[in-house]
Amino acid sequence: MSAAPPNSSRLTIRDLAARKGGVPMVWLTAYSAPTARALDPHVDAILVGDSMGMTFYGMESTLGVTLDMMIAHGSAVVRASKRACVVVDLPFGTYQASPAQAFTSAARVMAETGCAAVKLEGGVEMAETIAFLVTRGIPVVGHVGLTPQSVNAFGGFRTQGRSAAEAKKVMDDAKAVAKAGAFALVIEKTVEPLSRAITKAVPVPTIGIGASPACDGQVLVLDDLTGMFDLFLPKFVKRYAEMGRDMDKAVAAYAADVRARKFPQAEHCFTATPAKSKTKK
Ligand code: KIV
Repeated sequence: MSAAPPNSSRLTIRDLAARKGGVPMVWLTAYSAPTARALDPHVDAILVGDSMGMTFYGMESTLGVTLDMMIAHGSAVVRASKRACVVVDLPFGTYQASPAQAFTSAARVMAETGCAAVKLEGGVEMAETIAFLVTRGIPVVGHVGLTPQSVNAFGGFRTQGRSAAEAKKVMDDAKAVAKAGAFALVIEKTVEPLSRAITKAVPVPTIGIGASPACDGQVLVLDDLTGMFDLFLPKFVKRYAEMGRDMDKAVAAYAADVRARKFPQAEHCFTATPAKSKTKK
């Protein structure tokens, strides 16, 4: 087990829950120590999302992500961060069967990563499970609207809440998850007026992704924001950098230098006798 010791400088789930209606919270995903270190001073919460299946592992959906993968990446993120509240996703198939299955999975994630909470997808049908976890000491973030683990049932990554029946379902889901005890709620790819209405209707902070500026916070997948993942650009993403393009340029320049024997040069090589300068020889 590698649970991190409680760290008093970290934002807690109580701090986040208290942000309902206040200055919007900043959430971002991270899956690795270096990205967690970079995000930590700027965000309120880091989500170790199962989106890593697609952005990091090149899968077509999040369905192939395992509990062991979430634990490995979750512990790296907790180790490398000091201030942000860290939330780890429960992956597909590790919580839907029963509240007891969810508890076993969530307890492993909490104990082995040292994170503050888990996130799970689903609405009315997951309310009993959320209450089961929360009453046993496991803080939960809900996730309604487009829930990518149900991509096959949805028939694709479709915007949610366009018909009256769909809008009622997403609203009912959000209310059920909040009533069950989730301390925050992600709303994904759901029409704006409905996301705004849900934010008004539930007492817990809503965290939007493709939802509404009225939400109590926003989350994006870091790789989308940085352009590190550039296979496609969802409408709800704003790119703040072009790291995929920059990496392509950097690697092409390196390849050209190697082929032209321009790299390495003398300064990159070791002398036979150690020099007295401060640089590594
Ligand atoms: O897995 C993830 O990164 C997520 C966000 C898209 C909210 O659930």
